[in-house]
Amino acid sequence: MLSTLPRLIGHRGAKESAPENTLASIREAARQGAVWVEIDVALTRDGVPVVIHDDTLERTTSGRGALAAIDWAELRALDAGSWFGAPFAGEPVPHFEALLDLVLDLDLGLNAEIKPTPGRSLETAETAINTLKRRWPADRPLLVSSFQVDCLELARTLAPEIPRGYLMDRPPADWAAIADRIGAATLNVNQKRQTAVTVAAYRASGRPVLAYTVNDAVRAKALFDWGVAAVFTDAPGRLAEQLGRL
Ligand code: G3P
Ligand code: MG
Repeated sequence: MLSTLPRLIGHRGAKESAPENTLASIREAARQGAVWVEIDVALTRDGVPVVIHDDTLERTTSGRGALAAIDWAELRALDAGSWFGAPFAGEPVPHFEALLDLVLDLDLGLNAEIKPTPGRSLETAETAINTLKRRWPADRPLLVSSFQVDCLELARTLAPEIPRGYLMDRPPADWAAIADRIGAATLNVNQKRQTAVTVAAYRASGRPVLAYTVNDAVRAKALFDWGVAAVFTDAPGRLAEQLGRL
């Protein structure tokens, strides 16, 4: 369900203050007052949906190599917190279902971005969608998004009732036709590429525009003034406070 969107969505939780895409990061986003969070969901070698951004493990965990080359049993033992700071030592890469449980417990809305494990796009989308169908109550705020159109097409087939966000960095010339074809509920665009003109063009398609990633309050205000509905931010608390002073 896509109920009213908040203006600020915690990006990978509260990435500025906690290790991204961990349960600690979700808790921190809620503590800062976020009411929605965005996370990235991908697959391990053995097809388990987990919450992680990169295709490789080095940047955000104590592991090495490709996510696609590690099984859940091994991944779950890695440390996804120490790289960010000692207080987060031992924080694991979350299983997608554990993350859903926490997001529901905290009464947050969720944007689950399908981040396809290379070579396994449709399997990633299928697993993420089937997990959401099983675990996410129909009346709780939810948006599934992806940069990959084939993932969104499959999402539409498997769960037409789950709203889809069409993520774009450099938009293809036929983005409007693609958005129609996949039944996009929102357009999730790179804030760096936006002007009053581009936002107006997106809005003319009749969909809310969400912009990633905005950590500067002056920039957020400009985007809102142009008609952007919501921004993804690494710092939901700080941005809310700074916007309040503008
Ligand atoms: O979903 C918004 C944003 O997260 C998309 O880019 O690379 O941060 O997942 P990325
Ligand atoms: Mg993301």
